[in-house]
Amino acid sequence: TVVHRQDYAAPAFWIRQVELCFDLDPVKTIVSSKLHIERNPAAEPQPLKLHGEDISVLRVMSGGESLSFRHEDKLLVIDNPPADAQFVLEIRNTCSPEKNTHLSGLYTSGGGFFTQCEAEGFRRITYFLDRPDVMAVYTVTLRADKAKYPVLLSNGNLVEQGELDNGRHFAVWHDPFPKPCYLFALVGADLVCREQKIRTRAGKEHLLQVFVRRGDLGKTEHAMASLVASVVWDEARFGLPLDLERFMIVAVEDFNMGAMENKGLNIFNTKYVLASPATATDVDFAGIESVVGHEYFHNWTGNRITCRDWFQLSLKEGLTVFRDQEFSMDMAGGASARAVKRIEDVRGLRAAQFPEDAGAMAHPVRPDSYAAIDNFYTATVYEKGAEVVRMMQTLVGREGFERGITLYFERHDGQAVTCDDFAQAIADANPGSELAARLETFKRWYAQAGTPRLKARGAYDAEARRYTLTLTQSAEPSPGQPTKEPFVIPVLAALIGRDGGTLAGERLLVLDTPEQQFVFEDVAAEPVPSLLRGFSAPVILDDGLGDAELLTLLAHDSDPFNRWEAGQRLALARLLAAVQAPTTEALDTPFVDAMRAVLRHPALDPAFKELVLTLPSEGYVAEQLASFDPQRIHAVRENFREQLAAALQTDWAEAFEANLVQEGYAPTPAQAGRRALANLALAMLCLHAVRSGDAVWPGRAYQRVKDASNMTDRIGALAALVHSHSELAEPALARFHAIAGGEPLVVDKWFALQAQASEPVGAGHGRAFARAKALLKHPDFSLKNPNRARSLVFQLCMNNPAAFHRADAAGYVFWAERLLEIDPINPQLAARLARVMDRWTALAEPYRSAAREALARVAAKPDLSDDVREVLGRALEAQ
Ligand code: ARG
Ligand code: ZN
Repeated sequence: TVVHRQDYAAPAFWIRQVELCFDLDPVKTIVSSKLHIERNPAAEPQPLKLHGEDISVLRVMSGGESLSFRHEDKLLVIDNPPADAQFVLEIRNTCSPEKNTHLSGLYTSGGGFFTQCEAEGFRRITYFLDRPDVMAVYTVTLRADKAKYPVLLSNGNLVEQGELDNGRHFAVWHDPFPKPCYLFALVGADLVCREQKIRTRAGKEHLLQVFVRRGDLGKTEHAMASLVASVVWDEARFGLPLDLERFMIVAVEDFNMGAMENKGLNIFNTKYVLASPATATDVDFAGIESVVGHEYFHNWTGNRITCRDWFQLSLKEGLTVFRDQEFSMDMAGGASARAVKRIEDVRGLRAAQFPEDAGAMAHPVRPDSYAAIDNFYTATVYEKGAEVVRMMQTLVGREGFERGITLYFERHDGQAVTCDDFAQAIADANPGSELAARLETFKRWYAQAGTPRLKARGAYDAEARRYTLTLTQSAEPSPGQPTKEPFVIPVLAALIGRDGGTLAGERLLVLDTPEQQFVFEDVAAEPVPSLLRGFSAPVILDDGLGDAELLTLLAHDSDPFNRWEAGQRLALARLLAAVQAPTTEALDTPFVDAMRAVLRHPALDPAFKELVLTLPSEGYVAEQLASFDPQRIHAVRENFREQLAAALQTDWAEAFEANLVQEGYAPTPAQAGRRALANLALAMLCLHAVRSGDAVWPGRAYQRVKDASNMTDRIGALAALVHSHSELAEPALARFHAIAGGEPLVVDKWFALQAQASEPVGAGHGRAFARAKALLKHPDFSLKNPNRARSLVFQLCMNNPAAFHRADAAGYVFWAERLLEIDPINPQLAARLARVMDRWTALAEPYRSAAREALARVAAKPDLSDDVREVLGRALEAQ
């Protein structure tokens, strides 16, 4: 059944207060719930329909008497609830946590109890009005065996705990803030915690705790430091303080997503909590900082103000991603480190969201309909949603945006609201702003799917010293949206001189019609326009610039984002030309020289150099083509990598030596940037060495796999050997596995690297695929743990196009088999895997037909989950 945004109606009943009592048992947990219900006087008298899924009701009572009920399609229907305006309903039901492999609702992991309720998991725990606009105050009693589950946690404050008979104990928690049930959480497990006290500006002391399994305490320092930094940042930047006496983070090994912002009790995938230099890379450390921040920031943007309905998901997710991005930038420090973070974010947006917006699952930031809401926790809702918020900030200014946030909380604290309410608050706090002037038009970003195209053409009048820029926009049709209205596109622009000087400083151009002209007066010479600086809008820009102009920007643009972009554009143009040509030619000298100049540059940051010298991904190249051949793209990109490896050999060697970090490990942007560049250099050196039969660099890489003092360097060296197809790759992999010592997150990396292994071009082709397939039988492999399944299956299908898209369709068979295996275990995870085929219509033959056939074969199976059925259905509609 499909739900439509337009069908929203306020609930006929509210639940104001909930008392829950759990007798925790893995086989059969008993849940007693007391619901304080209030009729919505605006609604007709009607039956009370409570959501419930995979649970069994024992009894329903009110005022001491049993009430009759019936079941109707995952609903518990009470036809004759008490007629009073307010009444109490008592329900008793059971669920089976150990059978709950969906990891939604109450489940077991590593011998403990954990919950995940967003979006619709609470109904898998007890009968309820499982919708975000029903907000209640919770009191929760947990009872469990004390030896097995010494730690009992729920939201809010601990009010009581004590002993019971038979070795059991109990804890009572009370959360004073009314909340939707998707923010409910409980934990019952054998855990230990790191604690820290923190004082907010008001002088109140708060307790911060990070709970992990015994033995993992040594890997919680970074998560705790990130939490402390998050608390401080939200108060400093937005005036939003911690509002609870205690704030807990709990790590769990089996988790569908990254983490969850349950009020006062965030539950995290271990991947985003546990880190030590020996087990986590710089990227992992940065990921922990941003996810800890993200979940903490949800406490205001998501929890204090929540979503009226799930179509408004971006209200909290887009805004909170924007906030975590800003947090990471502020933490990064200097202008260059901030720019590096921005480049990484945009690269991620283009890698995940642009294809989504061009593919079968394209949907607006605020979707219009869904069959399974879990399918809409997407790059569009999250990352494009964050860009929409960022554009608002650009249009009202940073201070104006902070005023807008303040007004948003003045108006809506404690409410469940819509994306319109948010945009209205930002605009109303900034009357006379570029946003307020065109709010309705701006909100098309929420309504229209697809990535707009922005065309820019300039004309210089030397006599009048005038530069006229013509901006044009267009947008392609997307599913259900054949035509589009113009978007409001903020374009940050500057004019750069051919000698590198500035001819016009940065200014904000706002395009809100199909075509507009912008005039720059008093321009001394013909400029090179630097447009969309900092990626000021999520669009595809065609500025018509040629090599000479892009080389100017790469050498001189004062906006680091556009400087990087110029380098990528130069590379992309060459990649695209070669992909479409019959053979791959030698790279031209100006391009190679430009890359060398960046690599040798005395002033540029290593992190920035690494970004410039990394060629656009195969996926990004594919996205530029109406019809693409993954094998051809892979062959060309590998060829270019080999050429850059050979042409810059001595520079790579210098860069490697110059960027070795001698100090003790710290996951700072400065150190991370040096390690990233050194590891890129090592990869290039190994690539060239293997091709030219030289053993020195592979030998050094092998040494680093054994001796590296941190995971970033260890896995960097291993990747260099694996991707260059060195003979030392096998022994290095064995060594790495031994060093991992069974540490789950490290074993995940071992699988992931092999699943991503560069597929040999020509002789040996198919080796990477065969290796990944064989790993399914490895004793460490399991499809039940989402991290492990992702590390092998998803990495192969999503991040290794040349191994996956095979002329013999074996990759698609592999995909179909895994999908059908995972779906009965975990539909959410399976539906993510189904998304691999989103862009099948853009594949060249024979891949396209084979992909279609695989899709049709899977879609024909009976008993698919709603989640998977929705994704496959959309894919097949794309024809
Ligand atoms: N709200 C969580 C976060 O972004 C993610 C929850 C995802 N849940 C889901 N069913 N997809 O931090
Ligand atoms: Zn979130």
